[in-house]
Amino acid sequence: MKITFRLMVSLVIVVAIVTAIFSFYQVNEEKSRMTADLDRRAAILADSLKQSVSSLVGAELPEWLNQLVVKYERLEGVAIFGLDGKIITATPALKPIIPQPFPAVVKTILKNRPIGELMDISGRETYVYILPLKTDDKITGAMALFNDATYIGVRLKEIWKYNLLRFLTYTLLIVLITVVVIRWSITGPIAQIAQWMREARTGKGKVGRPTQIPRGDILAPLINEVTNLAKSLTVARAKADAAARQRFNAASLWTASRLKEQMRVELSGKKLFLVSNREPYMHIKDGYLVRCIVPAGGLVTALDPVMRICDGLWLAHGGGEADREMVDANDKIRVPPEEPEYTLKRVWLSKDEEKGYYYGFSNEGLWPLCHIAHTRPVFRLEDWISYQKVNEKFAENLLQEIAGEESPLVLIQDYHLALLPLLVKEKRPDARVALFWHIPWPNPEAFAICPWQQEILMGMLGADLLGFHIQFHCNNFLDTVDRFLESKTDWEQFSVCRSGHTTLVKPFPISVSFENSRDRETARLENMPLRTQLFREKGVRARYLGVGVDRIDYTKGIPERFRAVERFLEKYPEFIGEFTFVELGAPSRTHIKKYHDFMAEVEETADSINWRFQTGEWKPILFLKAHHSHEEIYPFYKAADVCMVTSLHDGMNLVAKEFVSSRDDGDGVLILSQFTGASRELMDALIINPYDIEEMADALHRSLVMEPQEKSERMGRMRTVIRENNIYRWAGDLIAALARLRPSDSVEGNQ
Ligand code: G6P
Repeated sequence: MKITFRLMVSLVIVVAIVTAIFSFYQVNEEKSRMTADLDRRAAILADSLKQSVSSLVGAELPEWLNQLVVKYERLEGVAIFGLDGKIITATPALKPIIPQPFPAVVKTILKNRPIGELMDISGRETYVYILPLKTDDKITGAMALFNDATYIGVRLKEIWKYNLLRFLTYTLLIVLITVVVIRWSITGPIAQIAQWMREARTGKGKVGRPTQIPRGDILAPLINEVTNLAKSLTVARAKADAAARQRFNAASLWTASRLKEQMRVELSGKKLFLVSNREPYMHIKDGYLVRCIVPAGGLVTALDPVMRICDGLWLAHGGGEADREMVDANDKIRVPPEEPEYTLKRVWLSKDEEKGYYYGFSNEGLWPLCHIAHTRPVFRLEDWISYQKVNEKFAENLLQEIAGEESPLVLIQDYHLALLPLLVKEKRPDARVALFWHIPWPNPEAFAICPWQQEILMGMLGADLLGFHIQFHCNNFLDTVDRFLESKTDWEQFSVCRSGHTTLVKPFPISVSFENSRDRETARLENMPLRTQLFREKGVRARYLGVGVDRIDYTKGIPERFRAVERFLEKYPEFIGEFTFVELGAPSRTHIKKYHDFMAEVEETADSINWRFQTGEWKPILFLKAHHSHEEIYPFYKAADVCMVTSLHDGMNLVAKEFVSSRDDGDGVLILSQFTGASRELMDALIINPYDIEEMADALHRSLVMEPQEKSERMGRMRTVIRENNIYRWAGDLIAALARLRPSDSVEGNQ
């Protein structure tokens, strides 16, 4: 209010001064003009009379002269004066009121020229025009014409009055305009922003862009900044809430049996339907024999323990060469083969479908699109067509399976099936559908590369619940939707509403089962230490063991890791002959040229480093290029001094979590890339930037010379994190969030 008042007072003062100055000039001007007018008229009249009156000496003014007073407007009278300034004769009304001698007459006679001036005659403003009278060029007296000039004063007062009125009108307008403009453009928006910020700070009300402040053009930059600030605040609050919830929930650990119990309550007898591209058990040919393997990759590692508990149906592509031989007439098989606990239904794809949908669109398009690993995504129309067809095929299969189920719960996995949620909801609006995205979600600018961005987003938003590993990916997704789709994003609830359907977007950091890792039998040979046994099996002699476990993928930072080993040996030569790094690399997607070339690059890098340092029975890098079962990998985790996870970009990375959960001895150090989702939880790892070879080499050194106590403290803290945030919690949270969604949130508008 103060500023409004100050602005108003200043404006009023300025207007008052300006009005006063102009009025003053106007009044003076008018006065001069009117006086001059009077003077001119009096002069003409006096001039015309002077001859006739110069000889007047009588006591009375002749009648014709008196008549002039009636004839001439404003003329009040005429007087003739002698040289002494006294009246000789005059209009009767004037005689008593004119002073004798009349000073103005004396002045006129002295100056010998006409004089006209305004004067007060008996309390009235009068214009007196005095003309010397002459006979034969000699002054004989003077004639004075008395004109009423009171109208001049009246007119000047009117001017002042008018200008005062004008000033008051200005003042009123100034007050009104100032109040309205300040309220409208400044104090109003500021008050709204303040109110909105208060709500953001205290966690009440909505935190999106303040919709009520569109007119704040001056405040627009401020509003933008404040909106971003509020977004960050909401995200931070959500994180803090999640952390608080986690701490609270940690009191009761999630176990397989707790999840089972939870599922019994949440599902109330319903089956769980899980859909993914990759199957959890794959039958392959090994000579004449058929072997069952568990494919490498985080998805299977995480979800198999969940399905074992929930006994639902897992629908996936039957990609193994012996898969068809093992299923029943409905393409189903109970798994795990040795101890069946749930049903796997295989979907068959032709070679062309697999090429376009899996190798093409999913892995040459979406995979590099979502991972910032500097590999260019490739989008081909034929791959996109194939991707749509295969998603429809999965939808047909799933719809067939859920036909008899009321409000079935469907968990769709990953980027291969982005269109499936909408396809399912279109046919079965009563189904509760969740889509979990196992890989990162890029920022909107990166996602904009995809030519079918809107179709992908719309397909995903068919889901009622959309899960990512971390909040950052959720934010990127919401930003992307904001940018490319006509929809309403709620940054407080983290949801998107489109055509009446709401999708909740939440982080669910995936994990491992943890309890499975306990008490595994690892002593394989007599009393020899495990590390020595492993080295002996692989024909290497060394003291320290480093391990890396990956699908061979360009996102995993494997060449960078090898170069870090090389640099480590250069910098710390005392470890030459002592330290060996074992890379258990599962070949992956090898039909794609990028992967094929990448495999060659990894091999070449390992070879050149080995060639440089290798001596006798020791070599720095042992690259074991094969599919390894969990049983084969586990002893390496147990025996390693250090495990290196150096992904260039990774949604979560479960190798890091598996390593930690295997180390119940409290030994071993984890080196972990800052670009993995896991680095948000495992803060006691040595966090590195995989592009910084020096830093990784130093981290390797630090891990090998670390005091046992520090190692065990760090490992202990990381184990607590994973024990409390295991895969049962992930599944429990995800399924509970889905089962508890209100049906009204999810169905309309999608039909
Ligand atoms: C990643 C993906 C999974 C995939 C796994 C293995 O973790 O998110 O969906 O199953 O890699 O890749 P693959 O192409 O062999 O299934």
